[in-house]
Amino acid sequence: MREDPFATLAEGYESWYETPLGAFVVAEEEKALETLLPPGEDLLEVGAGTGYWLKRLPYARKVGLEPSSAMLQLGRRKVPEATWVEGQGEALPFPEKSFDVVLLFTVLEFVEDVGKTLSEARRVLKPGGSLLVGILEALSPWAALYRRLGEKGVLPWAQARFLTREDLQDLLGPPEAEREAVFLAPEAEPPFPDADQAGLRAGNRGALYLGRWR
Ligand SMILES: C[S@@+](CC[C@H](N)C(=O)[O-])C[C@H]1O[C@@H](n2cnc3c(N)ncnc32)[C@H](O)[C@@H]1O
Repeated sequence: MREDPFATLAEGYESWYETPLGAFVVAEEEKALETLLPPGEDLLEVGAGTGYWLKRLPYARKVGLEPSSAMLQLGRRKVPEATWVEGQGEALPFPEKSFDVVLLFTVLEFVEDVGKTLSEARRVLKPGGSLLVGILEALSPWAALYRRLGEKGVLPWAQARFLTREDLQDLLGPPEAEREAVFLAPEAEPPFPDADQAGLRAGNRGALYLGRWR
């Protein structure tokens, strides 16, 4: 198995969300995610990290699956109301038809096998359930920055791959619904809502692409 790129990052993982730019970005992401949330009771988040989304998502029963013991430990502490399971997206330790919703939020960038992870996610969905996938769009200005940091050996980007929405749709087919968010560049100056609109007008792809599949 590869070295865990999140081992040394877990403790500070959510601190960027407290910066002015980080707070704007995560609020835009949350708005996009909220518009796509399907009804249901049982949610599985694959690669749940420190549980940032797991904490906020409105489902009665929530399970976070996470391979990094550093992230998992923090997640358990921050989101004790969820059930936490150590594991990999490529081999989910759940029977088929277990969940109404499976969420993968900026996780396909780090898994070893994207195809297996997606087929596992679909296997554990109940009939009529929904798969929600969020990616860091490969053609956005943010992916350009992260790719450059990765080339310089900065973690976790040194171990990341980036997909476009077209790559995702080649794997999953056309989504039932989709959203895009975060059009501003990583170097943007406040006011961020204006910078975001300017990025959209300039034709930037949003850093976050979210799709929902059955
Ligand atoms: C960028 S973080 C996103 C965490 C969380 N989804 C969020 O949005 O806050 C990526 C997460 O994917 C996890 N991950 C890496 N490889 C994985 C795999 N094969 N299966 C499941 N999760 C994996 C990492 O440990 C990390 O916690």
